[in-house]
Amino acid sequence: MALSTINKESLLSQHDDLSIVDLRIEHYAGNVLGIAYNAPRVSWTYTHDLPDKAKVRLLLRRRMPGSEAETIAITVSSKKSVLIEWPFEPLKSREEAVLTAQLIAQDGTALGPVCDPLYFEAGLFEESAHKADFVGPSWPEFESDHRHLPLVRTETNLKEPPRRARLYLSALGMVEAEINGVKVGNDALTPGWTVYSNRVECWTYDVTDFLVEGRNALGFWLGDGWYRGRLGFDGGIANYYGNRIGVSAQLEIEYGDHTIEYVYSNAWDRNWKTTLGPIVCSDLYEGEHYDARLQMAGWSQPGFDDDGWSPVAEVPYDPAHIENPEMGAVQKMEQRAPVMIKPIGDAADAKPVWIVDMGQNCTQRIRLHMHDLRKDDVVTLHHVEVLEPDGSIATRTLRRGQQYDQYISNGEDAWWEPRFTMHGFRYVQIEGIANLSEKDIDCHVYHSEMKPIGSFETSNDLLNKLHENIVWSMRSNFVSIPTDCPQRDERMGWTGDICLFAPTVTYLYDIQGFLNSWLTDVAYERDKWGTVPYFIPFVPLGGWSHPDALAIWGDAAVAVPWSLFMESGDTEKLATTYALSCAWVDEVAGYLSPDGVWDRRPSFSLGQLGDWLDPSAPPDNPAQAMTQKELVATAFYARSCRQLTQMAQILKKEEDLQRYTSLAEHVIDGFNRRFVGRDGLMTSDTQCAYALSIEFDLLRRFEDVIRAGNRLAYLVDHSDGKVCTGFAGTPYVLPALSKTGHDKQAYALLESTVCPSWLYQVKMGGTTTWERWDSMKPDGSLNPGGMTSFNHYALGSVANWMHTTIGGLEAIEPGWREFRVAPHMGGGITHASTSHITPRGEASVSWHCRKEVLDLHIEVPVGTTCVVDIPSVECSRLSPGSHDISVHDRN
Ligand code: BGC
Repeated sequence: MALSTINKESLLSQHDDLSIVDLRIEHYAGNVLGIAYNAPRVSWTYTHDLPDKAKVRLLLRRRMPGSEAETIAITVSSKKSVLIEWPFEPLKSREEAVLTAQLIAQDGTALGPVCDPLYFEAGLFEESAHKADFVGPSWPEFESDHRHLPLVRTETNLKEPPRRARLYLSALGMVEAEINGVKVGNDALTPGWTVYSNRVECWTYDVTDFLVEGRNALGFWLGDGWYRGRLGFDGGIANYYGNRIGVSAQLEIEYGDHTIEYVYSNAWDRNWKTTLGPIVCSDLYEGEHYDARLQMAGWSQPGFDDDGWSPVAEVPYDPAHIENPEMGAVQKMEQRAPVMIKPIGDAADAKPVWIVDMGQNCTQRIRLHMHDLRKDDVVTLHHVEVLEPDGSIATRTLRRGQQYDQYISNGEDAWWEPRFTMHGFRYVQIEGIANLSEKDIDCHVYHSEMKPIGSFETSNDLLNKLHENIVWSMRSNFVSIPTDCPQRDERMGWTGDICLFAPTVTYLYDIQGFLNSWLTDVAYERDKWGTVPYFIPFVPLGGWSHPDALAIWGDAAVAVPWSLFMESGDTEKLATTYALSCAWVDEVAGYLSPDGVWDRRPSFSLGQLGDWLDPSAPPDNPAQAMTQKELVATAFYARSCRQLTQMAQILKKEEDLQRYTSLAEHVIDGFNRRFVGRDGLMTSDTQCAYALSIEFDLLRRFEDVIRAGNRLAYLVDHSDGKVCTGFAGTPYVLPALSKTGHDKQAYALLESTVCPSWLYQVKMGGTTTWERWDSMKPDGSLNPGGMTSFNHYALGSVANWMHTTIGGLEAIEPGWREFRVAPHMGGGITHASTSHITPRGEASVSWHCRKEVLDLHIEVPVGTTCVVDIPSVECSRLSPGSHDISVHDRN
C-alpha cells in the first residue's frame, strides 16, 4: 500500500551543538577504577551527522601517583567512533587518566564543545604490584561449612591527610571493608565468583576521603562465599576451592609532596590481627546468623584494644592469578519498601509472626530495624518467593537453600542487614519482633552493575507487565555470573539458560563486560574438563559430577560470543573467544553419526536435555519432551557450525572457514535426511521441531520452509492457546511463525492467558518469569516438581521477538552499523515503542495505528543506516536523524 510521507527532520534543528557524548573505554559503564587494560579501546557517540573531514581531538591528562600530570593531545579520524585503538602510550599500573574528546575541523578550529570527561585508572597489572598477601584466621577451624566467621583489622598512621588513597581489595571467600568505622564502597559479595583456581578479581576503591591525619583503622568482615561455602544442589559441595578464607588488602597513600606509603595485608609484620566476629555463620543460600552480643564496638576504628586478637595467618595464593575486573561489581541497586505487612496467627500474641510482602520477587536483602528487644532475644527472617494457598510461606521449592537469617539481640536498638548471603524472594516471614511497620524495613535490590540500554512498551498492559517481569528475572540472575535462579540451592551458571537468553539480554542491558568475564571462565573450564560443563564455574554435584557434552548447554560456547558480537561488533573479543567456540564444535564433530546427526547420548542419566521442561513432560522428568532429543541436538549443533563459519569469515580464518562450512553442510544434510519427510512433515511433529528448523535455516527446499511454517501455524491454531515448547523451542516459535507469514498465530500465542502461556504467569500475579510454565497451578497450588522456581529467565527469551517484531527493531550488521525497523502489527495492539542504545547511539521506533494510517517515528543514530521494512510497503533506507513516516491505506 501507499507510503505517503517521509519527513526527515534534520537533527541539527533539534540539538544546539554538534557534540561528542558518551565517551567510554572498553565495555565499562563510565568512570571506572582499576581497569584490566593498559591500552583500553575508546568509543564515543556523535549527536549529529558530521561535516566532511571533521576530526576528533582526544585530550588525555595522565598521571602516575607520585608524579605530576601531563596532558597529551592526539587528533584521530572521526570515521570510526567505536572501540578505536588506544592512541597513546600504554597505561602503567595505577596510572590515572582523564580523557575528553572534541570535534574539530581540518584547521583545528572547534566544531563543537569538549565532551564530558571520562575518568579511569589502571589496575595493578603485574604480579609484583600485588604486595598484599591473603590473610585470615590463624586458629584451626572445623572442617565442614557453617563456620563462625572472623574479622581482620589493622591500624596505620598518616603524617597528614592523603592527596590520594586507593584500596586494592580481594578475598578468598568474601570481604567487606571498613575504614575508620565506615563501609568502603557500595559493593556486595566481593570479589564475585570466578574459577578461583585460575583467577580472582581485585577491586579498586578510592578511599581518599576515608583517611585522616594520625591513626586510621582498617577492618574487614570475612565470609565463606562461593570459595568455601556450600554450593549447589543434591546436597551441594563445600570447601570446593579451599578451606581457608582470607582478605588481600593493599592501601596505597599518596601525600601532597608525592611521597607514597603502602599498607598491605601480611602475616609477618604483626600489625594484622584477627578474631571471631558476630557473624556466627553465613551461607549464600541458607542464610546468615548474627549474634549482636559478640559485637565489639569500634573494632574498625583507631584506638580499639585488639590485645586479645590473634595474629593473622597467610592463606597461600598465587598473585599471578589476581585480576582486574572487566565488569561491574555486585551492588546495591535500588531500595524498596514493603507493600504489605500483616501478622498471622493469634493477634493477641506478644510477638506475632509477620508476613511481609515486598511486592516484587527478585534478588534482594532486608535491612531490618531491630527494636524493643532484650538481650538474647532472637529475630528470624525466612525468605520465600511465593505463599502456599493457605497463606503460609512456601519453603519446599527452596530445597536446601532455605534463605533463613537469624539475629540475636544484645538488647540495643539496631538496623541489621546480612552481609554474605543473598536471597531471591518476594515474601519474608519475620518472627521475634513485637511491632513491625513500614518504617522498620528497607529492602535492597542487588545485582551486578550494568547499564540498561533497551526499553519496550505497548498499548497492551499485560504485555508490558510480561516485559517488566522478564527484566526482573534477568536482573535477579545477573549477580556476578549468569545464574539459572536466585533462590533455591542451585544458583549456578547454567550454560543452556544463557545460551537461549543471550540475544534478549544483549538488547536490554550492556552486559558485554559481564558475559566476556564469564566466558573467560567458560574457556578455563572447557580446557580443564575437555568439554563445556553444564554450569560454569563448574563444581561437581551429585549426578552432574562428570561434565559431558550436552546440546544447547554446550552450544553456549558459540551462541553467547555470537550474540555479544552481533550487539557490539567487537572483533577483538570475538577473536579471544574463537578458540573456545572452535573447541566445542570440534569436540561434537567427533560424536556425530556418519550421516551427520548427533545421536550419541551424554553419559549421564538424563541423556540429552532436549526441549527441557516441555509442558507435556511430567513434573519429575523435565527431560521427557515431545521432540526427539537427537533432532534438537542436531539443530542446535548445525546452528553452532553456521555461527562458527561466520566467525571464521569475520576473523579471516580461511582454512577454518572451509572446514566449518562443509561440516555445517554435512550436519544440515543429516538433519534433513533424518528428520524431514518428503511431505515436509517432520519426524517430531512438534512446534519445537518446526520452529528450530525454520529459525536456524535448516530446511533445504523452499517448499519445506513453507510447509514447516504452515504446519507450525496449524499446530499453534490447534493448541487451544497453550504453549507447547520448553527451553529449546520457546525462543524460536514466534520468530518462526513471523518469518513464514503467520503473525496472527504468533500474536495469538503470545496474548493467550490459558495455562501454560506467558500471560498465564502474569495473570497469576507473577512479578518475574518462572522456570516452569505452571510453577503455580491455576488453583494457586505449587507445581509438585522438585524444580519449581519463580525466577528463571529462559522462557523470557520471548522478549527478543517482542523487541524485533512488535517494536520492530533489530541489528542486521554487527554493532548495529545497519539495523532494521520492521514492526509487524497485530494482536489488537495500537501502539508500541522500543529503543536501544547501540554502540553508536540510541536507535528507536515508535508506532501508532489510527484506523487506516500507521504513524512511525524512527531515530537513527549517526554512523548507522536503518532499513525500513514494513509489510506491503516498499523497503527504504534511512540515514541518521529523526524520521516521521505515515503509511496510509494499510490493510
Ligand atoms: C536449572 C536449569 C538448568 C537445568 C538443566 C535446572 O535445575 O535450574 O535452569 O538449565 O537444571 O538441567
